[in-house]
Amino acid sequence: MKRIVVLVSGGGTNLQALLDAEARGDIPNGKITCVIASNPEAYALERAKKHGVKGRVLCKKDFASTAEYSKAMVDALREEGADLVILAGFLTILDEQVTRAFPQKILNIHPALIPSFCGKGFYGLHVHEAVLESGVKVTGATVHFVSEVCDGGAILLQKAVPVLPDDTPEILQKRVMEECEWKLLPKAAACFCSDKIVWRDGKAFIEE
Ligand code: GAR
Repeated sequence: MKRIVVLVSGGGTNLQALLDAEARGDIPNGKITCVIASNPEAYALERAKKHGVKGRVLCKKDFASTAEYSKAMVDALREEGADLVILAGFLTILDEQVTRAFPQKILNIHPALIPSFCGKGFYGLHVHEAVLESGVKVTGATVHFVSEVCDGGAILLQKAVPVLPDDTPEILQKRVMEECEWKLLPKAAACFCSDKIVWRDGKAFIEE
């Protein structure tokens, strides 16, 4: 059984999708053993508690630098014995200490079709605002491995939805979450935990 540690910063609807999938038996070889929040107010911590999952808090402001924060995160992930780390709406910057300590073991969910609408400043509702501003007709979500490059690691799964004429950022965010994010993330976790991911030429694929 692989130990999954989920990193969160906010509401935690993606964490909820993972907890529900685990409860349904949809992540047969994985167990969410710990949730680490970047702020003590994150509602995601309540969701973890309701499911009997251990919660921890690591606040950036308690550390002098990103390097010190990242070191503390590596220590915490090692203490938890993480086999898989999932960034589920985790919005605090971590440096390469974390990716080096857990190579090909960290997944992130991004609310757009990478390589569009990603990188620095593209997070949460801002992504959907930028999508609407641009006039593209399709958007979606991406699950990718985390590398040193922001939103630049190997893509594992993507799903698209239409952008509709009357969309607001909030309406579009809801569609992307419901139809893409909450489906892709549990699937990615299940595939990882069942050793279904293969690497070829630096790219990640799922082999059923
Ligand atoms: C999600 O839409 C996630 O894709 C996004 O933050 C939201 C968190 O919601 N992540 C990013 O923008 C990362 N660049 P949640 O706390 O309800 O899961």
